[in-house]
Amino acid sequence: MPQKISVIGTGYLGATHAAAMAELGFEVIGLDVVPAKVELLSQGVAPMYEPGLEEILRRHVVGLPGSSGRLSFTTSFAEVAAFGDVHFICVNTPQRAGEYGCDMTHFDSAVESLAPHLDRPTLVVGKSTVPVGSAARLARRIAELAPAGEGAELAWNPEFLQEGFAVRDTLHPDRIVVGTTSERAETLLREVYAVPIAEGTPFIVTDLPTSELVKTAANAFLATKISFINAMAEICEVADGDVVKLAESLGHDERIGPKFLRSGIGFGGGCLPKDLRAFVARAGELGASEALQFLREIDSLNVRRRASMVELAREALDGSLLGKRIAVLGAAFKPDTDDVRDSPALNIAGQLHLQGAEVTVYDPKAMANARAVFPTLRYADSAIEAARGAHVLLHLTEWREFQELDPETLGEVVSRRHILDGRNTLDATLWRKSDWTLRALGRPRA
Ligand code: UDX
Repeated sequence: MPQKISVIGTGYLGATHAAAMAELGFEVIGLDVVPAKVELLSQGVAPMYEPGLEEILRRHVVGLPGSSGRLSFTTSFAEVAAFGDVHFICVNTPQRAGEYGCDMTHFDSAVESLAPHLDRPTLVVGKSTVPVGSAARLARRIAELAPAGEGAELAWNPEFLQEGFAVRDTLHPDRIVVGTTSERAETLLREVYAVPIAEGTPFIVTDLPTSELVKTAANAFLATKISFINAMAEICEVADGDVVKLAESLGHDERIGPKFLRSGIGFGGGCLPKDLRAFVARAGELGASEALQFLREIDSLNVRRRASMVELAREALDGSLLGKRIAVLGAAFKPDTDDVRDSPALNIAGQLHLQGAEVTVYDPKAMANARAVFPTLRYADSAIEAARGAHVLLHLTEWREFQELDPETLGEVVSRRHILDGRNTLDATLWRKSDWTLRALGRPRA
């Protein structure tokens, strides 16, 4: 059993991976280049909202009362290299500013900082989402820089966790994919993942490029499924159909399945949009742009949803946004996270504000992050405060709290009982019973 594991990068992926590895019984050290994050994590505090994460941090972070003491954090690469038998690199790989391609700066600099300290046989494992071909390049670079030379190996092990379910997805993944041609690397990773493997999680071993592609292909497929149903919503809109009933009926076909067929304002977040674009850019570099031409359409269908929602709001406000009061429920890119990266909800709130409406936003967890991105919007401390005096309400992130709102109570504080459901999760009958006009993209007016 590799007793000691290091995790480099402590974002959604790395912080959860480090905590989960400690939960599985390993001694773990997590590294981040941002001292403030290391400080927080060392006190058992998660730097982001992720259900269940703080509980496992508190169970294992060294020095906390009653903890196993198996988990610690540092900013030192030398310490990490001396400590770990297996080093997972989990840093973020964002979209390059002003381009479609993937920004590998953080990953490359993690490798450049770690490898010169690798003076004994060791395994580095990439988990971040990267353009295909990166792993082979980085494997060469590690062997070049490490005093251990070829003894410092690189394997690829993509991560498929969903924010909001990061802990569950890390402890009980639906598959483990490993890119390597080395028996030693495979054996070590089978030991790391012995618990989920014993639970029956499939363990797939393949080459480096295939393992990198599994992740980008999975995200491209999910994005395609969402944009497909949103394209059907556009058709329902002009043909007086109901996209929710359509999706429900399609989902019963086992070959299609019901998941990721929720139509609405489309996908956002730190992964799907940028991974899609990086995949398109990489295909172009490899001379295969035609193969992924359709993903450009998936992207533009998705972005169009945001504009369509703005238009639906304008229509609800009799053609003009100027000076109208709009309450936006939700700022996070999806529920159970405080992440507002490329959030459709916040993007729509911003567009409405820039076009002259008075927009007040409320989100159960993402207020601080939303304020940082969009300081010029108004923010309220509750749904009811946001709704006060509003000419229209926009439901843009499907938090459970919003499903449980009482239309009658809310109806008493608004200027007009008009709500637009951007996520197709509100009980339309209930709202209409309280004399609300409820509209959603791709659904009948009723
Ligand atoms: C995604 C992948 O699911 C995960 O496997 C990968 O590791 C990282 O990217 P995440 O970004 O956490 O995870 O979000 P996800 O749950 O996939 O949702 C992405 C977006 O699609 C959200 O904005 C969500 O609201 C939207 N969505 C999802 C829909 O609009 N309709 C759906 O049916 C499902």
